Amino acid sequence: MADKDGIPDTQNYFVDIPLASKPYTLRGSNSLDWGCKNRLSKIFQPETGRTVMLTIDHGYFLGPTAGLERVDLTIVPLLPYADTLMCTRGILRSTIPPTFTKGIVLRSSGGPSILKELSNEEIAVDVEDAVRLNVAAMAVQVFIGGEHETKSVHNMTRLVDMGNRYGIPVLGVTAVGKDMVRDAKYMRLATRICAELGAAYIKTYYVAEGFDTVTASCPVPIVIAGGKKLPEPDALKMAYDAVQQGAAGVDMGRNIFQSEAPAAMIQAIRKVVHENLTPEEGYDVYQALKSGKK
Ligand code: 5RP
Repeated sequence: MADKDGIPDTQNYFVDIPLASKPYTLRGSNSLDWGCKNRLSKIFQPETGRTVMLTIDHGYFLGPTAGLERVDLTIVPLLPYADTLMCTRGILRSTIPPTFTKGIVLRSSGGPSILKELSNEEIAVDVEDAVRLNVAAMAVQVFIGGEHETKSVHNMTRLVDMGNRYGIPVLGVTAVGKDMVRDAKYMRLATRICAELGAAYIKTYYVAEGFDTVTASCPVPIVIAGGKKLPEPDALKMAYDAVQQGAAGVDMGRNIFQSEAPAAMIQAIRKVVHENLTPEEGYDVYQALKSGKK
């Protein structure tokens, strides 16, 4: 039975202190609803406004990718170093411990395998399942200039509408076809279209020339894909150049899990992204961790 007696009088009204209304400082996100902001805060660290997303969703079109043959053995040990994990619901339910409390970005589009036309994707999850899995965002591939451009854009806008009903942000992943030029002009086009049509943040590729114009013309945060495996110093330099030119972090897969020392590599990437270490300093961290000196 509820206590009805002895309830203390209320008195701490601090009438001379106005209620603070602090802006949510993540780029372009201040007008989102509370749930959306809360989920984005599980991706972008509030202290730095940046993220180290570890992405392992490659199997959704590639099958058992090198480095991901046994996610339980190779990826689960890296989870303490990731701000967020991007994966499919199959890997999430089968292999990722539910005690992982950071953000999950759920791969939410798919269909064709590597053997077929990749742009021919459909939405591949129901938003209720994303809610059930308590994800921080849903990721969808957008093929600007691709054979099924309109369909992929429509997949994204439908996911944005579904996500908005539940406060789940959508990550637009700009997929560049193999015959397309990966330059700043293309990345500006693709990222801006995703942002205009409602993506809360965008994943794109780093380009050496003019990447700052890509981040400047996109009103929401941009994270860069790692792409094919590079030598560790080059991958660290790419991450450094990207964040110094306005990226809000990385969504990196192969350059972490295909590294000779994945745990050392993700920790070095963290230093570059969150602490602005130079690529050279980051590589020192990588080598020290790899050789067990740290
Ligand atoms: C395709 C994807 C991939 O599935 C993956 O996330 C790419 O990561 P990385 O290039 O760093 O290995 O999003 O566009």
